[in-house]
Amino acid sequence: MSKVAELQVIADEIVKDKVCPELAEGAAQLVFGDGSPDADIVFIGEAPGKNEDEQGLPFVGAAGKFLGEMLQSVGLKRSDVYITNIVKYRPPNNRDPEPEEKRAFWPYLVRQLDVIKPKLVVTLGRHSMEYFLPNQKISVVHGEPKRIQFGERKQVILPLYHPAAALYNGGQRQMLLDDFAKIPTLLKQINE
Ligand code: URA
Repeated sequence: MSKVAELQVIADEIVKDKVCPELAEGAAQLVFGDGSPDADIVFIGEAPGKNEDEQGLPFVGAAGKFLGEMLQSVGLKRSDVYITNIVKYRPPNNRDPEPEEKRAFWPYLVRQLDVIKPKLVVTLGRHSMEYFLPNQKISVVHGEPKRIQFGERKQVILPLYHPAAALYNGGQRQMLLDDFAKIPTLLKQINE
């Protein structure tokens, strides 16, 4: 089975398994992920917002535009990477995802990563960071790559600030840009 087909199986199972039915009911559609299934880098955000819910694609609103600019600044296109969220339905009124919602989607995210097998996972914001790097504070660990083991896999994680938060906070914006600029060197080091 191709990686695209394997990912589709996981997306179909989220619907079939009725993961977070209240969220599903209020959302227009599942926002599973976008990009290359062979990507070296997977970016993981929090949850879809209004634009993402409408289009069925992650990071297509203001935060997505900023993410696209940052990708471009390190010589990458959206189609070179894979982008997804920890929670895959839009929470009502864009509220923060609840802990049980993140827990419900986590096994599917792990399976997504098992298919793609990226060299680097970049978490965007604390919601997607917390399962990979529990009990860490994003203000302390942002921009510091960590090598972790989860399930059968060894994985390098780079925790970054969320682009939506950084958009409206000058200090965080600069930190995010500085951290993002480390990605090409980090990828080279992982490949060595
Ligand atoms: N913010 C997120 O965390 N994810 C999206 O897909 C869009 C905005």
